Amino acid sequence: MIQVGKPVTGKNFIGRKKEAFEIIQYLKMGQSVVLIAPRRFGKTSLVLEILRQLKNEKHYTGFVDVFAHSDLNSLNKTITAEVLENSGLKKIYQNAKGSISSMMQNIKLKAAINEFEVIMGLEDSTINDWDNLSSSIDFINDFGEKSNHQIFFAFDEYGDILKYDKSGEIIKLMRAKIQQQKSASYIFSGSYESVMNSLFVDNKSPFYRMARIIKLGYLEENTCIKHMKDTLDSYDISISIDQIEKLVYILKGHPYYCQLAIQQVFLLYKFNKEIPDNEDILNQILQIDRGYLEKTWEDISTNKEYSFVLKHLSNFSHGLYSESAKMKINASRAITYLIGKGIIYKTKSTYDFYDPILKLWIQKKIYS
Ligand SMILES: Nc1ncnc2c1ncn2[C@@H]1O[C@H](COP(=O)(O)OP(=O)(O)OP(=O)(O)O)[C@@H](O)[C@H]1O
Ligand SMILES: [Mg+2]
Repeated sequence: MIQVGKPVTGKNFIGRKKEAFEIIQYLKMGQSVVLIAPRRFGKTSLVLEILRQLKNEKHYTGFVDVFAHSDLNSLNKTITAEVLENSGLKKIYQNAKGSISSMMQNIKLKAAINEFEVIMGLEDSTINDWDNLSSSIDFINDFGEKSNHQIFFAFDEYGDILKYDKSGEIIKLMRAKIQQQKSASYIFSGSYESVMNSLFVDNKSPFYRMARIIKLGYLEENTCIKHMKDTLDSYDISISIDQIEKLVYILKGHPYYCQLAIQQVFLLYKFNKEIPDNEDILNQILQIDRGYLEKTWEDISTNKEYSFVLKHLSNFSHGLYSESAKMKINASRAITYLIGKGIIYKTKSTYDFYDPILKLWIQKKIYS
C-alpha cells in the first residue's frame, strides 16, 4: 500500500542508486560515512537499504536510532542486541530482559557471554554507563573480528547523542575507539538541525575528518516521475505524464512529498472518481502537513531577520540584499543560520528552500 512517513525499504525504496553505491564502497574500504540531509529526505531509508544490501552479501550489520533511546543504558543494550543479531540472538537476548540465567540457557548466547564480557557488564550496576558504552563500541568491532566478518554499523539521528553529554566527551570517546577499529565501519546519519554540521563539518569538532561526509539531495525528478506514474497505473489511475511532470517539478523530487502526492491522488480519485488537478493535490498536502509547517515557521519566525529572508525567498529569486538593506536587516547572518539549519541552500544565483511545501505555505501565508 501507499504508506507515507515511515522509512521505506525493499521495493518501495526508489532511486538513490549512486548514493548507495558510493557509500557502500567507502564502508567496504573501512571508511566511515556521515550522511546529512534536511528532515524527511530519506536518510533512514537509505541507511536501511544500504545495510540490507550489505547483509545480503553476508556482511555483518547493525542499526541504532539514537533518538529512540532516552538513556545510555538502553542505547548500550540496543547496540549489543544489534551486534548479537548477526548470530540470530537478538530476540533471545532481549527476551531474557537482563536475566543472565535466562541468557545462559541458550548455548550460543552462553558462548557469546563467555567470550564477550560486555554482555554481563551491561547488567552490572557497579559498572557505569560510560564504561559500558565504551565496551559496547568495542564489542561491535570485536564481534566482527572474532568471526572474520567486516561489520557495518549505523547510528541514525546521531546528533542526538549529545543529549547524554553536552560537553561532547562522549564523541571523543567514540572517536578514540572507532579510529582503532579494523573490522568495523560506521554510518552516522542525521539532519542539519540536529547539530550534525557542527559535529562533523566544523574543524574544531573531534569528529572532523574522521568520516566521509555525504550530503543527500533530492531524488532525481525522472525517478520520481516514473515511480508516480507506475504506482498510480498499478491502481488503474491513469493520470497524464504531463501532469506528473509538472507536479514533480514543483515538488523538486523531494521523496517524502512525492510519496505523499501519490497517496493523495489515490485518495482524491477514490473519493471523487476523477483525477484531481495539481492545485488540489498541493492543497491537500498543505493541509496534511499543516502542523509540521506551522511548527517549523513558529520556530524560525521568532527572529525577524529569518522571517524576512524566508518571506522574500518564497516570492522572489532576486533582490534579497537590496530589500534587506532598505529594512536594515542583516541578510547574510540570517542566510548563514538558515543554511546551517537545513532550511535553505545556495543555488547558482540565489538561495532556495529545501522544502518546496514550506515555500508554498509561506507564500500563501503572506497573501492570505
Ligand atoms: N528512496 C525513497 N524511495 C521512496 N520513498 C522515499 C525514499 N526516501 C524517502 N522516502 C519517503 O520519505 C519519507 C521519509 O523518509 P525517511 O524517514 O527515510 O527520511 P529521513 O530523512 O530519515 O526523515 P527524518 O528526518 O524525519 O528522520 C518516507 O516515509 C517515504 O515516504
Ligand atoms: Mg530518519
